[in-house]
Amino acid sequence: MSENIRLRLFNDNDLNGVVKVNRAALPENYASYFFLEVYYKFPQGFWVAENTRNGSIIGYCMWRVEKTFSNFAISLRRIKIAHLISIAVLEDFRRQKIGERLLKFGMDSMARFYQVQEYYLEVRISNTSAIKLYEKYNFKKIKILKGYYKDGEDAYLMAYKLTN
Ligand SMILES: CC(C)(COP(=O)(O)OP(=O)(O)OC[C@H]1O[C@@H](n2cnc3c(N)ncnc32)[C@H](O)[C@@H]1OP(=O)(O)O)[C@@H](O)C(=O)NCCC(=O)NCCS
Repeated sequence: MSENIRLRLFNDNDLNGVVKVNRAALPENYASYFFLEVYYKFPQGFWVAENTRNGSIIGYCMWRVEKTFSNFAISLRRIKIAHLISIAVLEDFRRQKIGERLLKFGMDSMARFYQVQEYYLEVRISNTSAIKLYEKYNFKKIKILKGYYKDGEDAYLMAYKLTN
């Protein structure tokens, strides 16, 4: 990762930058208030990558906590699971380990601050680069979610469990 890229927690001033990256990089776009809502609830799960040359945001990842059932064990007990809502890096900055560091920083902080025991996410079955990234961090494909996306594409639900 270039020395001009700094990873740090999101703050309100980053909102426009994050919205721009989201629109440039992904077909799943969210209203500004949604980003802020997640940030206010789970501030430690929202990381940005900043280009320190000009202060622009070039990537982000955003997690939230859900109390739900494990993807790995059949149990009636709900546990705290981190859900990756969105991650993206601007095209010009890809393949420099920025996405990887955003993912890792987010995961570490979700365990540390919210005591999650597990992580999960959805990814388009055609999104090979993202799937490779998640597999590098030991996420496993749990199941296919048929027609999950608005355009009808299926998703993999991928999950990773921390060992106790
Ligand atoms: C997925 C994404 C965030 C990866 O960001 P990135 O900064 O380019 O990724 P990194 O440089 O950190 O790559 C880390 C690992 O991911 C995998 N990877 C990333 N891009 C890849 C590509 N184009 N082809 C194959 N593997 C790739 C590799 O395993 C890589 O590890 P390696 O460099 O040791 O081979 C980026 O491609 C992106 O923003 N895509 C569009 C948005 C998106 O699809 N988000 C995910 C939605 S679920």
